[in-house]
Amino acid sequence: MDKRFYITTAIDYVNGQPHLGHAYEKIIADVIARSHRLLGEEVFFLTGLDEHGQKVQQVALSEGKEPQAYCDELAQSWRALWTKLGLTNDDFVRTTEQRHKQVVQALLAKLHREGHFYKAQYEGFYSAKEETFLTDKDRNPDGSFDSSWGEVIRLKEENYYFKLKEHQPWLIDYIEKNPDFVQPSYRRNEVLGFLKNNTLEDLCITRPASRLNWGISIPFDTSYVTYVWFDALVNYISIPAAHRDPALADAIDFQPSTLNSQLSLWPADLHVIGKDILKFHSVYWPIMLKAAGLPLPKQLLVHGFWQKDNAKISKTTGNIVDPVAIIDEWGIDAFRFYVLRELDIGPDGNWTDAGFAARYQAELANGLGNLVNRSLSMLKRYRNGVLPAASTELKQAADEAARKVEASLRANELQAALVQIWELITRANQYVDQTAPFKLAKDPAQTQRLDEVLYNLCEICRVLAVLLSAFLPNTSARIYEQLALGALPQTFSATQWGGLKARDAIGEPAPLFPRKDLAKSS
Ligand code: MSP
Repeated sequence: MDKRFYITTAIDYVNGQPHLGHAYEKIIADVIARSHRLLGEEVFFLTGLDEHGQKVQQVALSEGKEPQAYCDELAQSWRALWTKLGLTNDDFVRTTEQRHKQVVQALLAKLHREGHFYKAQYEGFYSAKEETFLTDKDRNPDGSFDSSWGEVIRLKEENYYFKLKEHQPWLIDYIEKNPDFVQPSYRRNEVLGFLKNNTLEDLCITRPASRLNWGISIPFDTSYVTYVWFDALVNYISIPAAHRDPALADAIDFQPSTLNSQLSLWPADLHVIGKDILKFHSVYWPIMLKAAGLPLPKQLLVHGFWQKDNAKISKTTGNIVDPVAIIDEWGIDAFRFYVLRELDIGPDGNWTDAGFAARYQAELANGLGNLVNRSLSMLKRYRNGVLPAASTELKQAADEAARKVEASLRANELQAALVQIWELITRANQYVDQTAPFKLAKDPAQTQRLDEVLYNLCEICRVLAVLLSAFLPNTSARIYEQLALGALPQTFSATQWGGLKARDAIGEPAPLFPRKDLAKSS
């Protein structure tokens, strides 16, 4: 049983509808998952929902629903959106599922047995909204607490704590010795800076069930429930354990009863997360794993935050981008393209409707769409849709693009891959202008030259379909369909020049990205 390339996303809080930020992260992970499959690896892609905690409980109760019923309802609409986005996840975790809860409890029981927890009383300030204790470091310069914490109360409470201090030295050492552990590197430096300049405070891992009961019960003290992070992070191993991953079964003493599959997944190859949850993934999660005797994930890929019109995305102010509305108007591939082309993985980005429309028009409709449509239409018009003999004039450009794109995909540089693909599109569109097939068609002495040009253009369209298939799967499939080539190949090596054969007949050309009336849509 070979180990699979195991990739995960953050699991989203289910206290509202998905927005641009959630969708962006899932698209990044999907493109990476698809790329690895194309490059010949077996992949397991996991995403899902974080359903426990006070926020979810509060929203449910305010809508007059039981938390579980509320989560069941919302989980359906999240899953429907992920299907709409074309995500190819292999499983979908919900933290209220039995298979997840069992692993959280098994892990807690083990760490408790081995002396990693202690019980202590804490008295201090507490933000109910953020479900977290506050310290002096959280105060504004004038001593007050920021309104973003909501109501801050004084609280005296006994809880269980996870001992972290003793782990600090090895963690610093590990991150220093593994420069790729956190990507991009400036995020890694942030983590190192934090670890070197602060003494880690022990992590509170419980909440009294009398105050919050929407959580996983603590196996060694049922008057407590698990605090959100010790629940949520464990999804990355609970699902492999449920698939009977041998790397986990022994370590956490858990035997799933339901599934017959046996997959080798852990350690994860890549956790895709946003910058706001970096500390949980780069500090708490590695320590939890190490304490449990498990290997650490190989890499964290940390993306930035989207704003809209230079302001925070927020339901309360109504400043949102609704992925469903965008997809319904512009198509799913246009949405996938824009978010990855506009924003590199790392920095923050800004969504504007005008910017979206401009990229759609210039790069999708006029760039890719126009190239495919005019290439295939000319073959129809001048050669009745039948391909002439193979020619290699654009082979070198195509091979070079494929090499660069492969390297970018392997390095998770998705924006760079798209830039490289568009360089090839531009090159091919220039080739049409330079060779002027419409003029060649009028001159009987140029029959052979026209054959060459038409072959090169149609073959470039085919190569582009393969190069784009992880990003724009529907568009790539449509190009293959229009070329009458059947199903898209599942391997990157299909970028090799010469896939189209002489005397193959193509199908019907149809615009891939209909032009829009920009005045109307902006
Ligand atoms: N439930 C926790 C994660 C637990 S992972 C074990 C959580 N949920 S969340 O719904 O608040 O965020 C889910 C993901 O969406 C995070 O990676 C977060 O960074 C990302 N985004 C939320 N808003 C975002 C933007 N405005 N822009 C980009 N991504 C953002 O945190």
